[in-house]
Amino acid sequence: MLRPILLISESTRYQPLFVALNDLGIRAELASCVNLGPLTETKKSFAAIVIDWGLPAAKRAEALRQIYKAWPDLQVISLGYGDSATARRTAQSGNHVEHLAMTGNEKEDLILLLEELRRILPDLRTQVVTLSDLFFIKTPSRKMVEILSLIDIMKDESSSVLIQGETGTGKEVIARLLHYSGRRHAAPFVAINCAAIPETLLESELFGHEKGSFTGAFERRIGKFELAHNGAVLLDEIGDMPLHTQAKILRVLESGEIERVGGHEKIKVDVRIVAATNKKLFQQIDKGLFRQDLYYRINTFTINLPPLRERLEDVLPLAKHFIDLHARRRGGPPKRLSPEAEQLLLKHDWPGNVRELRNAMERAMVLAAGNEIGAEVFPDEIREKFDRPPRPAAALESPGPAPMSAAPILPLEEVEKRAILDALSLLNNNATKAAKHLSISKATLFRKLKQYGFVRRTAMRG
Ligand SMILES: Nc1ncnc2c1ncn2[C@@H]1O[C@H](COP(=O)(O)OP(=O)(O)OP(=O)(O)O)[C@@H](O)[C@H]1O
Ligand SMILES: [Mg+2]
Repeated sequence: MLRPILLISESTRYQPLFVALNDLGIRAELASCVNLGPLTETKKSFAAIVIDWGLPAAKRAEALRQIYKAWPDLQVISLGYGDSATARRTAQSGNHVEHLAMTGNEKEDLILLLEELRRILPDLRTQVVTLSDLFFIKTPSRKMVEILSLIDIMKDESSSVLIQGETGTGKEVIARLLHYSGRRHAAPFVAINCAAIPETLLESELFGHEKGSFTGAFERRIGKFELAHNGAVLLDEIGDMPLHTQAKILRVLESGEIERVGGHEKIKVDVRIVAATNKKLFQQIDKGLFRQDLYYRINTFTINLPPLRERLEDVLPLAKHFIDLHARRRGGPPKRLSPEAEQLLLKHDWPGNVRELRNAMERAMVLAAGNEIGAEVFPDEIREKFDRPPRPAAALESPGPAPMSAAPILPLEEVEKRAILDALSLLNNNATKAAKHLSISKATLFRKLKQYGFVRRTAMRG
């Protein structure tokens, strides 16, 4: 079994990271500078040490002195925020200290730290498949089940994969799942957001540069492709990549070689390309903004992630997952969704997709006072639809403006039948829940189903 990781910090900012490591089954111990003494005296056995670079300088120096004395061979990772150039230099002047710049985003920071730990601790690599479980939950919709079986088929291949989907649908979690479940999982997964990096720096980010190759290139820099050798590169927001860089990427894909900016040496790299975009690439091609040849090169496999409104059966399982995740991170019991809240979530059309749902659930966990999350804690844009009175009846009575909905008027029995079937399908055929949402008894629900000639009671859940 892997020895624990020691995390030395005196602030609460790394608490979630620490909790998440333990959640993943990677034992981590937290110590402040004061209780470091007993650990160093007994030379307690650790796999690696993580130190908060934000500690006051004197304390940090003293902690490092004790660490080197007690564990001269242990690798130390320092964590810090903001401009890390100075921290990196100072940290690296000590023995075995590797500085890791944190972003402030819990998920990203955890991944960064895990990847660093995986790099230095070979034993951790075998545990890494569980890593994806933290971020990815398997959902019941048919479309997602199909996507997962596609991932299963191509996870060990090296061919490129293009992931398309609206914002927040989970493109990045799918990319990571693909990488970490495949044979390349022990090698790095390196992501780069092509939209966030200025055009002039993008190529140096991707391919690295030689010292002096442009103003400001004080040192040689290794690019993402080289870092990801044997692993995968996620080209995120590839639809925003400048045409010039697209040409270079195409060349790399064809030759399997890169050249650092300002360099002449050709360096062989073996990486799997995963590209993600929320733009329709063929539309970008029509506009002359995306190269057709690159498009064909990267979409050997394409995954089209459906928006959440097209897989409503995923809403409640995801909501519950986010409730559990929040409860685990913050401590305390997970809360229950009230039937109204569940209905509210099912009625919203989620333009921000899973990300919006996640944020809504985190907010709800904080705002809900008791053990139950009611409808009232959700923001207006989610409650809007739910609170709106039913339109058609009013529209029939008054000769005013035409109803907004162009749906045909249906016989009442048909409306009722559809409402019942919709409720069952959204709630995974759970009859107890469906009856509750429809405000009828379970007996009435079964009677009506029988009347419509549907399923026997045994085919239902709940
Ligand atoms: N199946 C899932 N299980 C757990 N979390 C998920 C799932 N799908 C998405 N998420 C969560 O939803 C959020 C958005 O996911 P992600 O960042 O992968 O989306 P994206 O499609 O890359 O978005 P964007 O286009 O804005 O970059 C993240 O917090 C992610 O963890
Ligand atoms: Mg993304």
